[in-house]
Amino acid sequence: MSRRIALVSSERGLRVDPDLPLAVAALGDAGYEVDLVRWDDAAADWSRFDLAVVRSCWDYAWRLAEFLAWAETVPKLRNGVEVLRWNTDKTYLRDLERAGLPVVRTVWNPLGPADLPEAEEWVVKPSVSAGSRDTARWSDASAALVHAAQLAAAGRTAMVQPYLSSVDDRGETAMLFIGGRFSHAVRKGALLEPGEGVRQDRNSRGDLSRVMPTAEQRDVAGAVFAAIHDLVPGAPAPLYARIDLVHDEAARPVVLELELSEPSLFLPQAPEGAATLARAVEAELQQ
Ligand SMILES: Nc1ncnc2c1ncn2[C@@H]1O[C@H](COP(=O)(O)OP(=O)(O)O)[C@@H](O)[C@H]1O
Ligand SMILES: [Mg+2]
Repeated sequence: MSRRIALVSSERGLRVDPDLPLAVAALGDAGYEVDLVRWDDAAADWSRFDLAVVRSCWDYAWRLAEFLAWAETVPKLRNGVEVLRWNTDKTYLRDLERAGLPVVRTVWNPLGPADLPEAEEWVVKPSVSAGSRDTARWSDASAALVHAAQLAAAGRTAMVQPYLSSVDDRGETAMLFIGGRFSHAVRKGALLEPGEGVRQDRNSRGDLSRVMPTAEQRDVAGAVFAAIHDLVPGAPAPLYARIDLVHDEAARPVVLELELSEPSLFLPQAPEGAATLARAVEAELQQ
C-alpha cells in the first residue's frame, strides 16, 4: 500500500525552502511517496494524501482568511487547523504570558509616547507577519509611534517591543521540537539594522549555526512546548514546533516567537532532523 504525504508550501517556498529537499529524501527513505504542493493549488486533491504537512506557506501572512479557510478543508493536516488559527497571529504571546511563561515585553497598539515600553530603541511589527515583513527598528519614539499608527490604520494589530540588543551578540536561539521531543537548536544572527526603516525583502537568513542550548533555554522552551496542549485545547499534538528565544535586559531567555505554522526547521544545519520528521510522520499515521 502506498502511503502518500504532501509537503505543503507556496510559490516562493517551493523555490527556496532549503528544508524541502531534505524532508523529501528522508520521507522517501522511509517508504513514502511525497508530493510538494502549493497550499493554493486549486487542482490539488487533498483527500489523496494520508497526511498533508504544512511547511513553507509563507504567503499566509497577507492571505490569512483564505489560508485558514483552505486549512479547514484538508482532511488530515499537521499542524492542525486549530493550531494554525491560534498561531498565525502573534497575539498568542498574550496567552503565553497569562500562562506564566516568559515572553518579550510587548505593548499592543500604543497610542502615545507614554504607552511605549521603557527602551532606547523599539521594534514595531504587525501581529500577523512572517519573514520580518512590515517590521522595523526605531531609535526615535515618534517614528515608532507613526509606524504603529500606520499598521493600526491598515486594520492590523501593532506590536511594540524593546529592541533586545542581546540579538547583536548572543543572537536568537531557535529551539526545534519534532514529533513531541526537543530535536536541535540553531542560532540566528540579528536581522534589523538601525536606521533602515520598514523593509519587505529581508529574505536571506545566511547567519545560521547549530548550537547547544543552555539548561535555562531547554527549561523555558520545554515549558512553552508543554503548554501548547492547554493553550489550544482539543487540538492534536503538534508535529513540529519552533520556539525562538532571545535574552532580555536581565539576560533571561524569553520567547520572541512560538512558531507552529510555518517554522523553518533548519534541517541543513541538523540533517538528522529530517529522519526524525519522517519517524514523527510514521507515528502520526499509526494513531
Ligand atoms: N524585540 C526585538 N529585539 C530585537 N530584534 C527583534 C525583536 N523583534 C524582532 N526582532 C528581529 O526581527 C526578526 C523578525 O521578528 P519576529 O518577531 O521573529 O517575526 P517574524 O519572524 O514572524 O517576521 C527577528 O528574527 C529578530 O532578528
Ligand atoms: Mg521570527
